[in-house]
Amino acid sequence: MEVIDFHSHILPSLDDGSKDIDMSLEMLRRSKEHGITTIVATPHFYADSNTINHFLKKRKHALEKIENRLDFSAPAIVAGAEVCFFSGIGHADGIDKLCIGRTKLILLEMPFRAWSEKDLYEIERLLNGGITPIIAHMERFYPFQKDKQLIPALLDMPVLIQLNAECLLHWKQRRQAIKLFKSGQAHLLGSDCHNLTDRPQNLLEGRKVLEKKIGQQCLNQIDQLGVSLLREDI
Ligand SMILES: [Fe+2]
Repeated sequence: MEVIDFHSHILPSLDDGSKDIDMSLEMLRRSKEHGITTIVATPHFYADSNTINHFLKKRKHALEKIENRLDFSAPAIVAGAEVCFFSGIGHADGIDKLCIGRTKLILLEMPFRAWSEKDLYEIERLLNGGITPIIAHMERFYPFQKDKQLIPALLDMPVLIQLNAECLLHWKQRRQAIKLFKSGQAHLLGSDCHNLTDRPQNLLEGRKVLEKKIGQQCLNQIDQLGVSLLREDI
């Protein structure tokens, strides 16, 4: 059985995630203990302070560092990025280079503010260009939305919705997350792990909640979808 963590900051010294190679290796060890077989490495990408080519060069270097130091059978790592939304992303040059592995999927971090129709138009442009956004930790954006129509409008688009395991661990957020998975509006789970302490690997705890509240079939569905999305990379 494949268990995929779709959102993580395990690569060393690239963003506010793992601070060095030793922390990365420990994060991988913990991920293995959580039963994860594949982990998508999604360092933050900010278009206002980085170029795509520079980002890719640094990411490659970080992946090589891990490869050179691995002395246990760690989860497979698939390279991706958590791309911070920017105006013009829908038609930005080379944006497809930030897709996960060999897929046409991009992990997109929406803005932490009230969204507008214009923002959703950017998503439409990505879709029209053949790229499917995975909306990162969708649960974190609800409190910012004044126009209550925009969330349903986004959920109706052919995008994928990723939730952080974290939201299943708090009773306040849990209800909404479970509703989204139950209704088929949430598709993927990620740990969004950044370190070993305050933002650790927690996918297993989140999965246990889903199993208890919805049933094993919910996990099977998540895992099967994950495998079908990454089939060329795992
Ligand atoms: Fe993240």
